[in-house]
Amino acid sequence: MPSKERCQCYLGLFLTPCIIGLVVWLTIRSSPPDFSIHKFTVPALNQTSLDFKNSTTINATISFEAKLKNENKEKGIYYDTLNLALYYYYEKNLSFLPIGNLSLPPFYQGREKTATRSNNTQTHGVPWDYARMKASDGNKSKAPALFRVNLETKVRYKSLLWKSKRHKISESVNITVDDQGKSCANSLHFKYLLLSNQVTSTVVGMVLSSGILLLL
Ligand SMILES: *[C@@H]1O[C@H](CO)[C@@H](O)[C@H](O)[C@H]1NC(C)=O
Ligand SMILES: *[C@@H]1O[C@H](CO)[C@@H](O)[C@H](O)[C@H]1NC(C)=O
Ligand SMILES: *[C@@H]1O[C@H](CO)[C@@H](O)[C@H](O)[C@H]1NC(C)=O
Ligand SMILES: *[C@@H]1O[C@H](CO)[C@@H](O)[C@H](O)[C@H]1NC(C)=O
Ligand SMILES: *[C@@H]1O[C@H](CO)[C@@H](O)[C@H](O)[C@H]1NC(C)=O
Ligand SMILES: *[C@@H]1O[C@H](CO)[C@@H](O)[C@H](O)[C@H]1NC(C)=O
Ligand SMILES: *[C@@H]1O[C@H](CO)[C@@H](O)[C@H](O)[C@H]1NC(C)=O
Ligand SMILES: *[C@@H]1O[C@H](CO)[C@@H](O)[C@H](O)[C@H]1NC(C)=O
Repeated sequence: MPSKERCQCYLGLFLTPCIIGLVVWLTIRSSPPDFSIHKFTVPALNQTSLDFKNSTTINATISFEAKLKNENKEKGIYYDTLNLALYYYYEKNLSFLPIGNLSLPPFYQGREKTATRSNNTQTHGVPWDYARMKASDGNKSKAPALFRVNLETKVRYKSLLWKSKRHKISESVNITVDDQGKSCANSLHFKYLLLSNQVTSTVVGMVLSSGILLLL
């Protein structure tokens, strides 16, 4: 065989499994769920409510409503307990103070489904005098309060034949609360990084499937 043809032959032998591997990867890959917070309410910062000026009756409850969306066409998602840690941004010393923890129970979500979950908690350690002063009349133009929600959970993807191992999700979102005690944006989306262990496993999968095809 002339060397040019042999070279093309090797190239074909190398490329075909790569292309097949890519197609397989595009078919089996999983997208992480989309998590967003739609309502985040802090009644203590609602200056239209009657007891806003009455500091003896601070309602330290924070409540929220979250939406979880599984965008995978082929896979269901098993969520472990979703742990949410709440923080208040204290501008005086530029730090996020931990004010409470919340959780949502584990559940299974079918493909292309959307679920709504809500919960509330009594917070501790919010400097309410300061926060309420910032939310009051004279300071309307400024963003009255900044909170942060940190989400931590693990998910498993379920396809027809197998269930994946647990993938860790850990993300934070800033939430600005206005002087009505509600979040300014309608929906605050967590942005997911591509999960590193997912990348590793798909690369290993691609190499393995290429290798097997090369042997055939
Ligand atoms: C704020 O308080 C007013 C008066 O009580 C109420 O109508 C309104 O719904 C409250 N806002 C929020 C976001 O709860
Ligand atoms: C503040 O709340 C307390 C307890 O509910 C009540 O006794 C008091 O009259 C209130 N003060 C004002 C100024 O509304
Ligand atoms: C605090 O506010 C929440 C949400 O508005 C309400 O459900 C709860 O009853 C309030 N608690 C008190 C003690 O007023
Ligand atoms: C900021 O102030 C709060 C309340 O006084 C305190 O609990 C927290 O430890 C302080 N953080 C830092 C980094 O100094
Ligand atoms: C939230 O949970 C963490 C870890 O379980 C704990 O260390 C922290 O004290 C909790 N924070 C509050 C405000 O309860
Ligand atoms: C709300 O969060 C608390 C604290 O993590 C948890 O014990 C409770 O089960 C949660 N409730 C709902 C309805 O998710
Ligand atoms: C507005 O906020 C500043 C501090 O950020 C405070 O000194 C001032 O008293 C506030 N004004 C009103 C009307 O609450
Ligand atoms: C959240 O707010 C803090 C304090 O203003 C800021 O340093 C940080 O960059 C914000 N993060 C995001 C993702 O906007």
